[in-house]
Amino acid sequence: MSTELKRALYNISALADLGQEITSGGSSFQEKIQSVLYVITGTFLTNKGAILDRNREDGQMHILAQRGFDQLDPGRADTEGLASFARNEPCPLPAALGTGVGAGILMPLWVRDEFTGIVLLGEKFTADPYTAEDFELLRIIAAQIAVALNNHSLFRDLSDQLDENRRLYEEMRRIYHDTLQAFAAAIDAKDAYTKHHSQRVAKYSVAIARELGWNDHDIEGIYVAGYLHDVGKLVISNDLLNKKNPFTQEEVDEIRTHSTLSHRIISKINFPWKDVGKMIRHHHERLDGSGYPDALSQEELNDGTRILTLADAFDAMTSRRAYREKMDIQDALNELKNCLDTQFDNRIMLAFCRVLDKEIKGELPEPDILPHFDRDSDLTVIASLLEGIIRELSE
Ligand SMILES: [Fe+2]
Ligand SMILES: [Fe+2]
Repeated sequence: MSTELKRALYNISALADLGQEITSGGSSFQEKIQSVLYVITGTFLTNKGAILDRNREDGQMHILAQRGFDQLDPGRADTEGLASFARNEPCPLPAALGTGVGAGILMPLWVRDEFTGIVLLGEKFTADPYTAEDFELLRIIAAQIAVALNNHSLFRDLSDQLDENRRLYEEMRRIYHDTLQAFAAAIDAKDAYTKHHSQRVAKYSVAIARELGWNDHDIEGIYVAGYLHDVGKLVISNDLLNKKNPFTQEEVDEIRTHSTLSHRIISKINFPWKDVGKMIRHHHERLDGSGYPDALSQEELNDGTRILTLADAFDAMTSRRAYREKMDIQDALNELKNCLDTQFDNRIMLAFCRVLDKEIKGELPEPDILPHFDRDSDLTVIASLLEGIIRELSE
């Protein structure tokens, strides 16, 4: 076999190794570049080599891998000077890289109009000069490295952008939730007895929706609806909301306007969740069509509304109001049960009882309903009542 043929075969196998290194999974980018450097220094019979990339942000050169070029100082490299060399063409090592590097070859790496980095090779240890054939091989190898560097840099930019977007999104989300809570606090402060009512309704609704297998997006929607369902109360007078005496029909009618007022207020907001407006407007509707404001029939009430209605009623019953004491949890559960089919939905009630049962048994890491119960609540009695209801509704 002729020397030239041996050399060609060696080059082909070097290229195969290189392609495998660049495209293989598993190892990190840094490890790949290190391996690539070993392949090319071996191919060109030199014990000195380096691969540098150009940082897109600051335009500076950085060493990705090097062997034998310990004196290399990329901080002293004139990046613009390097970028002015013929693209993807090997040339003698210039002084632009600083002193002490010695003789060798520089290969500027370009992908389209982007200067992505350089490959440096020292003198051959055979002391032979680089040949035209070496340059041809170097061009092929360099093209692969340039694309790898460019992809890596694009990926890094993308992931930086993604991190930044994620951070901004989290920040917006936090501000949004703070605003929502401040709003709810303003609503609940109108009525001395409904402190944290909106927050509890939101939490109970989320617990039920989660139990029913809702996805995270829809759960966030019902959470928002829970917080804002009584926002219309902001427009109703404090005296009326805090009245102790029995209400006249006129006063009842006025209080009842709060659900349409809530709907009118929030309809100006373009929520990313469907049905928030519907849930809010209809949180006092009933399955038998006797609710308000639109006396909707069963078929017209979606699951979100049915959840919010039950969560709202449960919290109203178990909270003290200006005009009545609060109910025991057991009494409230029995009341909900008695109003199934006329007011509340069996499936929603079953989900509510199941999630509450799980919370009492400690099966859920972060309970949403239980923390709001009085400390002296008899959980054993509540649990057995829940088991009875669950059994009955599951049949
Ligand atoms: Fe309400
Ligand atoms: Fe409410």
